[in-house]
Amino acid sequence: MSEKRPILLLLSGEHPSLPYSEVFAILESEGVEFRELKRCDQVMVIEGGEQTGKHLEKRAAYVMEGGALILQSRPSVDELRKACGYTDWSFLRGRSFGVRVSRVKEHWREFSSSKLEGLVGEYVKNVTDSRVDLESPQVWIRGVITDCGVFLFKQDFRTDRRAFAQRRPKTRPFFHPGVLEPKIARAFVNLSKVRKGENFLDPFCGTGGFLIEAALLGLHTYGLDLDRRMIKGAARNLRHYGLDAELILGDARRLPFKKVDGIATDPPYGRGTSTKGQSVKSILSEFMREAYEVVRDGGRICIAAPQEVAIQEVAIKSGFRLHEVHIMRVHKSLTRSIVVVERVAG
Ligand SMILES: C[S@@+](CC[C@H](N)C(=O)[O-])C[C@H]1O[C@@H](n2cnc3c(N)ncnc32)[C@H](O)[C@@H]1O
Repeated sequence: MSEKRPILLLLSGEHPSLPYSEVFAILESEGVEFRELKRCDQVMVIEGGEQTGKHLEKRAAYVMEGGALILQSRPSVDELRKACGYTDWSFLRGRSFGVRVSRVKEHWREFSSSKLEGLVGEYVKNVTDSRVDLESPQVWIRGVITDCGVFLFKQDFRTDRRAFAQRRPKTRPFFHPGVLEPKIARAFVNLSKVRKGENFLDPFCGTGGFLIEAALLGLHTYGLDLDRRMIKGAARNLRHYGLDAELILGDARRLPFKKVDGIATDPPYGRGTSTKGQSVKSILSEFMREAYEVVRDGGRICIAAPQEVAIQEVAIKSGFRLHEVHIMRVHKSLTRSIVVVERVAG
């Protein structure tokens, strides 16, 4: 199949905006040229260079799978047959295939996904010499029914969802409540736009959840925490995965670094004893002023805080430019803002 075909990405439905931003951050940080062509519910269609899929497969938390777009159609049997007729199926020549269709949420419920699988399978069998194999075909033709209609794509990669589940905080040797799940931690690290070989910092590193994700990506990883137990615990957790990071007992309000390429962090929210009586806002104000001196020009910080802290305002006051805000409702009394800011040259 021609490399020039647009790429369809099937995204996780776990958050309404983070998955799209994560794709942008990964491809930009890896220097991949790309262009967004279409955005639908849990689907993104992009035009991108050869390495696009490789980078997303290796890094993304919220991309589930992707591959070359085969066709797009309105959700009607007639339209789909027409679209199949216009499609060049020669990429299947001599190869076995299977068709599997997923529906995003409840979109076009009246349009049966199994009927769609049958229709496409029959059509393709008739116009090619390919044989159907639903166990382990050489090519999976994937269908997605979403708000924009029906897409078919050739599955070129699938991200390893199980690996994230296997790294759940509770399975690590050192656990402390309130740790974010590995997928969210990975997305934070990606949004900081640090790439392999560059310096990444989590200045409120706790048990090391962000450090693990950063080290897995090959970033030079630094962690700082005020609490000696956390530093020891983070070291144990990293060792558990055979990973390495530089861990420093210290205060995020006085960063012992000259320059870092980016920061991702989940600071204390003032719900436990971890802020030692100082308000979260005042800790974060001191931290942001300090971070402005340490993050390189063009570098990013991805940080979470309770929505009422308005961490984006704190960051802007320190000189950062606001890139984006994502809202995450955790429970009745906690809604988190996830904020990405950038240090502009100045
Ligand atoms: C929400 S936890 C971080 C959780 C972390 N993402 C993890 O994977 O475990 C916040 C951490 O900030 C630390 N902390 C609080 N005040 C600090 C300060 N001024 N400087 C550095 N660390 C601080 C606390 O000890 C705590 O471990």
